[in-house]
Amino acid sequence: MQKYLINPNQRISKIHKDIYGCFSEHLGRCIYEGTFVGEDSPIENVKGMRTDVINALKDMGIPALRWPGGCFADEYHWKDGIGPKEARKRMINTHWGGVVEDNSFGTHEFFELCDQLGCAPYVCGNVGSGTVQEMSEWVEYMTSGATSPMADLRRANGREEPWALRYFGVGNENWGCGGNMSAEFYADQYKRYATYIRSYGNVPRPYRIAGGANAFDYHWTEVLMSRACNHMDGLSLHYYSWANQKTALDFDDDGYYDVIRKAFCMEELVTRHGEIMNRYDPAKRVGLIVDEWGTWYKVEEGTNPGFLYQQSSMRDAMVAALTLNVFNKHSDRVRMANIAQTVNVLQSVALTDGEEMVLTPTYHVFKMYKDHQENTLLGSYITTPNLGDGYLPQLQESASIREDGTIVSTIVNTSLTDAAEIACQVADFAVESIEAEILTGDSHAHNDFENKDTVKTVAFSGFTPQADGFTTVIPPCSVVKFVIK
Ligand code: AHR
Repeated sequence: MQKYLINPNQRISKIHKDIYGCFSEHLGRCIYEGTFVGEDSPIENVKGMRTDVINALKDMGIPALRWPGGCFADEYHWKDGIGPKEARKRMINTHWGGVVEDNSFGTHEFFELCDQLGCAPYVCGNVGSGTVQEMSEWVEYMTSGATSPMADLRRANGREEPWALRYFGVGNENWGCGGNMSAEFYADQYKRYATYIRSYGNVPRPYRIAGGANAFDYHWTEVLMSRACNHMDGLSLHYYSWANQKTALDFDDDGYYDVIRKAFCMEELVTRHGEIMNRYDPAKRVGLIVDEWGTWYKVEEGTNPGFLYQQSSMRDAMVAALTLNVFNKHSDRVRMANIAQTVNVLQSVALTDGEEMVLTPTYHVFKMYKDHQENTLLGSYITTPNLGDGYLPQLQESASIREDGTIVSTIVNTSLTDAAEIACQVADFAVESIEAEILTGDSHAHNDFENKDTVKTVAFSGFTPQADGFTTVIPPCSVVKFVIK
């Protein structure tokens, strides 16, 4: 029997809802087809945004959306995507699949999408191939309510009021597709570009996010924090759990544990990048923004290799559940995160095929975990066996408390073979009621257009309430949420 202790007396940090954000790039069928079909499409839409996807993302509780890239961001020139659609430039998306980008989805459409979703917009600017003036004018275009050249241009394009731009990223992966810069060079460039991200009138300046490290590149974080910490509100981090020699469903048990172990590296990454940040910013003013994370496999057979289209199974759901628990547990530093990506690209929450839409197991994890959004993280500890060589806990958890005193706990059992018997005790707490739900299945279980509901969340009754907690048996390869009152 494993022991699980939740301590409501230890209130650690607010779990910012934006930790549950998504990323959508002009890549493959993420924006075009996946989200934006255009007003003339036979697919049901509101102002071009497909209704089924919008409704699903709203139900999932999507809090923030990053756009337009990714690598696309450092090739994107925002003025190509405003004004009458027929006059917008057509270009080749050289980075992703060499397809025609007709710029029919631009700044106005992005804010329309965020409005329909009710989520915070996160726009990523172009450092790699853009100028300081271009970036500065984009922010003016989006946020100035004054009489100014860019605000007037926005009005001429039909939008009177400025938008509430919450987050702005100063470039993407500037160590790679965003210009192949050294950390030292980028830190100086960052300060130069960020200087001209102004606040217009009463509109607060957007939260400025510096392009951060690739995975374990701690030098990058050290340089950015030591040289530019005072000029940023957030610093990003990208990490993918790669297994790109094989497609999403082509794996054996070793392949499962390999990806789960890689996903669990997020714990080490946010701890170690966080430790560097602590030295320069002990007050934790600067947020760690994990604005790209997820699994990355070989593309599905017969699809454009530049479109990064992959299926998604219970293995991916486990990755999502582990990762979100890590973000919860580090919510004192992790302020926002964006899974890559939203629809039809990498570890998507939804897949589309013409009029059809299917929700992935990862979607169900996000929906299950939305109960943590805006709660306060609690101290918690679970005893757990270790699986195999190296460090991979069989069990991992996080617990939070709502303002009304309700406790939410999510537990992951990563084992493919062993159920976990757990005795949970909530300190100084008298249990009145417990509700639970579970997402479970064979590691390969997935949803597709023929069988859309193979993997879905169901009510879980495999627990026995106790005066101050519960006992439970959690099946292998599953995620369980307990809501304790
Ligand atoms: O998400 C796909 C790509 O991965 C992004 O464009 C880039 O930032 C990262 O390398």
